[in-house]
Amino acid sequence: MRGGTDAAALPRHVAIIMDGNGRWARQRGLPRVEGHRMGIRAVRAVVECARELGIPYLTLYAFSVENWGRPENEVTTLMTLLREFLLKELPELIRHRIRLNVIGEAEKLPAYVREVLDRTLSVTAGHTEMTLTLALSYAGRSEILRAAKKLAEEAARGRIAAEKLTEDDIAARLDTAGMPDPDLVIRTSGELRVSNFLLWQTAYSEFVFTDVLWPDFGKAEFLLALDEYSRRHRRFGLTEEQAEPPSGGIS
Ligand code: IPE
Ligand code: IPE
Ligand code: MG
Repeated sequence: MRGGTDAAALPRHVAIIMDGNGRWARQRGLPRVEGHRMGIRAVRAVVECARELGIPYLTLYAFSVENWGRPENEVTTLMTLLREFLLKELPELIRHRIRLNVIGEAEKLPAYVREVLDRTLSVTAGHTEMTLTLALSYAGRSEILRAAKKLAEEAARGRIAAEKLTEDDIAARLDTAGMPDPDLVIRTSGELRVSNFLLWQTAYSEFVFTDVLWPDFGKAEFLLALDEYSRRHRRFGLTEEQAEPPSGGIS
C-alpha cells in the first residue's frame, strides 16, 4: 500500500489518458481488440481504487473525436465493449454510489450505446460519493469551440455582454461545468503528449507519465502515480514561499 494516504495530498480530481491497448496486444501477437478487452480490467481496478481512497472525481479518456478515424471494425468493437462495460458495471456503480457522467459528443455514439449510457446516467444521477466521467467522442478543442458558439449565440441574443465575459463564463459552458479542474493527469504507454484532452482544464494540472501499457495498469501503478503527485510542489505561478508558507509559524 501507499505510504501516506494523507487526505490533504490526495488529488480531488484524477484524469487518465488510457493508452497502449493496441501495443499491448501486438506484443502478444493478438488482435488490437484484445488489448481493448483487457483494458477494461484496468478501468475496473482504477475505479475501485479511487472509490476506496475517496477520490471524488475520476475522468477517463475512453474515445477521442480523432479515434473515429480508426478502422471501422476497431471502432465497432470499442463501441460494443463500451456497451458491455456499462451493462456490467451498473450494479457496481449502484453498490458504491458512483455517479456516471459523460463529456464529449455523446450524441454521436451509436444508438445501442446511447441507450445504455442514458439509462446508466439517469439511474446513477443521485449518487454523490464519487463522479466517474467518461470522455466519449471527446476533444478539447471541439469542446472549447462548442462553448464559444454558445457564448456567441447568447451575446447575439443580448443575454450576455461580450466585454463582460469572464473565464468562469467559459468554464460554465464546457462539458466539465461544475467539476473541479484535474489535479493530476496520468498518461500510460510512454507517450508524452496531451492528445486533445481537457485543454482548458489542465492549465495547472500535474502530469504523471508511465511506460506501463494501459491493460497492465492496476492498483499498484495508480498508487505509485498518487504517491508521485503527493511529492509535487504546486505553485500556480507564485514563488515557493508564497505557495507553501513555512509551517508552524503563525497560530
Ligand atoms: C488506447 O489504446 C485506447 C483508445 C485510444 C481507444 P490505443 O488503442 O491507442 O493503443 P495504442 O496506442 O495503439 O497502443
Ligand atoms: C488518446 O490516445 C485518446 C484516448 C486515450 C482515448 P490516442 O492513442 O488516440 O492518442 P495518440 O494518437 O497517440 O495521440
Ligand atoms: Mg494510442
